[in-house]
Amino acid sequence: MFKNKEVDEDVRKGQAAYTKALLFIYDLLVLKISNTYIWKCPTKNLIKLYDDNLTNNHLDVGVGTGYYLKHCDFPKDTRLVLMDLNKNSLNVASENAKELKPATFIHNILEPIPFQINPFDSISINYLLHCLPGTISDKSIVFDHLLPLLNNNGVIFGSTILQGDIPRTRKAQKLMDFYNSKGIFSNTKDTYEDLEKNLKKRFASYEMKVIGCVCLFKGIKNNL
Ligand SMILES: C[S@@+](CC[C@H](N)C(=O)[O-])C[C@H]1O[C@@H](n2cnc3c(N)ncnc32)[C@H](O)[C@@H]1O
Repeated sequence: MFKNKEVDEDVRKGQAAYTKALLFIYDLLVLKISNTYIWKCPTKNLIKLYDDNLTNNHLDVGVGTGYYLKHCDFPKDTRLVLMDLNKNSLNVASENAKELKPATFIHNILEPIPFQINPFDSISINYLLHCLPGTISDKSIVFDHLLPLLNNNGVIFGSTILQGDIPRTRKAQKLMDFYNSKGIFSNTKDTYEDLEKNLKKRFASYEMKVIGCVCLFKGIKNNL
């Protein structure tokens, strides 16, 4: 495991919730209950996003429990690398993906990546952006840090819970407000339009799809 330097308070809060205890109930609480009944984006949609975009040379950033890594169809002989600021998440996710013998990096993705890593053909950042402080334009620095690690024609994909004009129930708004008040989410200013602007700016082509209040997205790198 590789480590890097200290982080500021807002960034710390965005990952501090992922204790061993929370990770123990995360799949039930978030992936079963919240995704289905609150965010209205059942987890099967996100499994499909992974299955449609994974390659055998993959980096997952913001790993949580590694649920998707366990439930997706990785090609044979996959090289899998996991990156997260939180050691608990990395431990649980690497255990869940242990068949693929993942390498792990402790890193705040809002900072440039200081490690030497061979590039990837696919990178996932699922439910990461809504945990990061700032506006979507601020957090899109994540794409700038990851693009140098992506091979030409490679894909960065993921999903994030948005606000703005995205339709959401009162329950969803209440839960988002609560998570934002605790610093677990920082998505009060996250809009579809801002995400689109930032994907358009950086990728040769991009796709976005809204299910419930979750935006699924992908961007393809093309240097030609
Ligand atoms: C909501 S969980 C998402 C887990 C998983 N990808 C999923 O979709 O279920 C967010 C993950 O991002 C990590 N994280 C939060 N802020 C981060 C940062 N600044 N740099 C790297 N990882 C971060 C947290 O530790 C946590 O593992």
